[in-house]
Amino acid sequence: MSTTVDTTQMSAVAFSAQQQEDIRALVTRYPQPLSALLPVLHMAQQHFGYLPMNVQQLVADTLNVTLMQVREVVTFYTMFKEQPTGTYLMEVCTNVSCMLNGAVELLDHMCNTLGIQPGETTPDGLFTLAEVECAGACGSAPVVQVNNIYHEKVTAETMDALITNIQTGAETGGVA
Ligand code: FES
Repeated sequence: MSTTVDTTQMSAVAFSAQQQEDIRALVTRYPQPLSALLPVLHMAQQHFGYLPMNVQQLVADTLNVTLMQVREVVTFYTMFKEQPTGTYLMEVCTNVSCMLNGAVELLDHMCNTLGIQPGETTPDGLFTLAEVECAGACGSAPVVQVNNIYHEKVTAETMDALITNIQTGAETGGVA
């Protein structure tokens, strides 16, 4: 893991008074503040949209842990994003069960449909495509997680329908 910190991302950010109160309440549930790191990172990502370095520093300062302890967690879990994503983050599992049930072909199809590669965002900012490891729903392979919603036994046809429904506003995909 890189130990270099990009100081250009270090502009000031802050949690609201309510969020600070919520974090204080969270910390009391654990034997040490570090144990509250995961829920606080989720809270930060939900609020700021992603976890740039200044937000990671804010989390570290808030929990009185080191920036490196925060980075160890952020860089380990794919659910934490250090870069902004589109409104809909399409995470395609290509691990064994999903691969054996057509996930690689499905991912190729989505690349063609959306005109982007994994790691990229469509020009309208609507979709980001990502290839991920096991999503924990192997019995329903192939699986695509769209934001917080799992789509199971996905085919090219059902994915095309989902994308079209999102593009036309017929489906919110969990986005308010
Ligand atoms: S291999 Fe895709 S959900 Fe487990």
